[in-house]
Amino acid sequence: MADKNMTSLTIRRPDDWHLHLRDGDMLAAVAPETARHFGRAIIMPNLVPPVVRMEDAVAYRDRIMAVVPETANFQPLMTLYLTEETDPSDVIAAHKAGIATAAKLYPAGATTNSASGVKNMSAVRPVLEAMAEAGMPLCVHGEVTNSEIDIFDREAVFIDKVLKPLRKRIPDLRVIMEHVTTQDAVDYVRDTPKNLGATITTHHLIINRNHILAGGIRPHYYCLPVAKRERHRIALVQAAISGDKRFFLGTDSAPHIDPAKLQECGCAGVFSASNTMSCLAEVFDVAGALPKLEAFSSLNGPAFYRLPPNDSTITLTKGEPVDYPTHIQTGEGPVTVFDPGFPLHWRVDA
Ligand code: NCD
Ligand code: ZN
Repeated sequence: MADKNMTSLTIRRPDDWHLHLRDGDMLAAVAPETARHFGRAIIMPNLVPPVVRMEDAVAYRDRIMAVVPETANFQPLMTLYLTEETDPSDVIAAHKAGIATAAKLYPAGATTNSASGVKNMSAVRPVLEAMAEAGMPLCVHGEVTNSEIDIFDREAVFIDKVLKPLRKRIPDLRVIMEHVTTQDAVDYVRDTPKNLGATITTHHLIINRNHILAGGIRPHYYCLPVAKRERHRIALVQAAISGDKRFFLGTDSAPHIDPAKLQECGCAGVFSASNTMSCLAEVFDVAGALPKLEAFSSLNGPAFYRLPPNDSTITLTKGEPVDYPTHIQTGEGPVTVFDPGFPLHWRVDA
């Protein structure tokens, strides 16, 4: 049992295994927010146009490094966006050259900027087989997109209709089911002994669908996959605090300027890069599981990706509530920072 009076915790520097940094002025504003506390991050490739080829990833990585403060010692881990036209040899070459850590599978139309995603899984089978052979991980947005499937069921249906057949066909492929939101996904990952991991976001450990919809609609809590019932949130917390190596942090911090969130058809995405570690410390503290925070945010991810954990550390200290700005300013406009709905007592010293 954790010490209820614990007031200080030093852990290996965390990594973010699912992050959107965007480009241009937005990139310049949000990259330092992540680099402040995190050592590395898996960078999502859903730019417009997407990061598809090795050369795109090289250029994007250069643009990221140009805006990360030198003192931060932050390393972006690049991903390639799989399309039905992807050339398997380019993906494997990018991995072998240390350019692309993983590739990302978006079902076409599943989420923000996924129009170039995959409609027909058999079209990407050659690249997935090549990735399995090379040991290159596949990050998956695990939702079906059929309009007849209820949006709250899309993750569970994806597991049955896409993930299980895929893993049966290519069992050696190392898959990360990203931003899991359901008990179904937690159970599936837990029951799968090999080659399957899952990321969990900060906000899905904190909000359920009532936070989005009850007592007025709150667009800043709208993201994809959409938050589910409370029992699913509890299952996610149990997975995160369990220490089980297959579950690790991927914030899915996904900035959109306020005018893009607050409109008739608002964008999906929660921006949590600024206050994620304070939020997580609060969640783990309330659950009596602070000693498991390091596994979730700093150890399990590198182990799955076959990378060493970071050498440096961060220290979290409990005290008076820490104030985070409600917004960050970007060259494109203001971005609202995730509001967990409770005071954050844990300060981060990186
Ligand atoms: C992400 C975005 O805005 O790029 N949005 C989101 O709601 N999570 C895309 C994604 O990861 O689904
Ligand atoms: Zn995402």
